[in-house]
Amino acid sequence: MDTKTILITGGNDGIGRATAERLAARGAHLVLACRDDVKAQRTAQQIAEKTGNENIDTLPLDLADLSSVRDAAQEFLAEHPKLDVLINNAGVYTDRLERTKEGYELQFGVNHLGHFLLTLNLLPALQCCRLCSRVINVSSALHKKGVLDFENLRGEKGSRNYNGSAAYAQSKLANVLFTMELDRRYGTELTTNCLHPGVVGTRLANKKAGALTSTVWTMYKPFASSPEKGANTSVYLASSPEVREVSGRYFDEHQCLRKPSSIARNEQLARRLWEYSERAVADYLVQGMQGEI
Ligand SMILES: NC(=O)c1ccc[n+]([C@@H]2O[C@H](COP(=O)([O-])OP(=O)(O)OC[C@H]3O[C@@H](n4cnc5c(N)ncnc54)[C@H](OP(=O)(O)O)[C@@H]3O)[C@@H](O)[C@H]2O)c1
Repeated sequence: MDTKTILITGGNDGIGRATAERLAARGAHLVLACRDDVKAQRTAQQIAEKTGNENIDTLPLDLADLSSVRDAAQEFLAEHPKLDVLINNAGVYTDRLERTKEGYELQFGVNHLGHFLLTLNLLPALQCCRLCSRVINVSSALHKKGVLDFENLRGEKGSRNYNGSAAYAQSKLANVLFTMELDRRYGTELTTNCLHPGVVGTRLANKKAGALTSTVWTMYKPFASSPEKGANTSVYLASSPEVREVSGRYFDEHQCLRKPSSIARNEQLARRLWEYSERAVADYLVQGMQGEI
């Protein structure tokens, strides 16, 4: 992997950090795109000490702020002619209605919309050759419980009607639909796949979730997989020659192909989500991408 440039969102914690460490150990040039750049730099330093790979950069990226996503892409494109692998890994879980800077429901905004914009803006660097450009979206088996409610993507139905786990499942369904539509639109120029990493004992549900959810999650963690194990499928999809020509597919935590839910396979819905997302991010496309997508 020593000639590969890999950008990973949320590479400073949990599954993302474990993924970054494993890919760094294989010699890849890593870019950790994170909202807390100090934490990201500390992580880069620790990974470099552990793996001996000093080729690790950081890139400030707040997926809850579309101008930050545009700026991050612009900064990346100015410094790097090509991107071999983009791992859209970052994610948030909350059971209280919060919104992104542009007013989208936070889980939809961070887990889907921010990554949608990041991917579109990085397409010029990704489209260098189909067999070497990969986009990997970290979804979840919980996408199977997801339904897309286009009337509530900005939290229009209010806090009292907010269901955090339903909003999380919706955002993870969006990750699968995005993967399928990206493959239909750009499958001749890159490969794209999504995955469920397993149930992994990270701090995902300790950061923004309420006290009850956070306590239950903490109690459950000893029975969950380690972040290192949770990184297995992301590392496999990023590096294995076995999946060089595989695209538009959903993998489980054992690197096995699985059928996503029937809603996730609905082409009409995927197209509708793409068109909705395209309108939502239109003002934040980097120069040159307007009119291209
Ligand atoms: N853990 C599981 O059981 C599980 C199961 C299925 C799927 N997943 C998925 O796996 C992925 C990684 O989650 P994890 O379990 O490793 O959780 P985690 O340890 O909390 O890591 C999430 C990462 O996303 C980053 N992030 C959150 N909000 C962000 C924002 N606005 N902008 C940029 N980065 C942001 C976090 O940054 P900070 O460090 O600043 O918080 C962190 O680096 C997520 O997509 C999640 O949905 C996890």
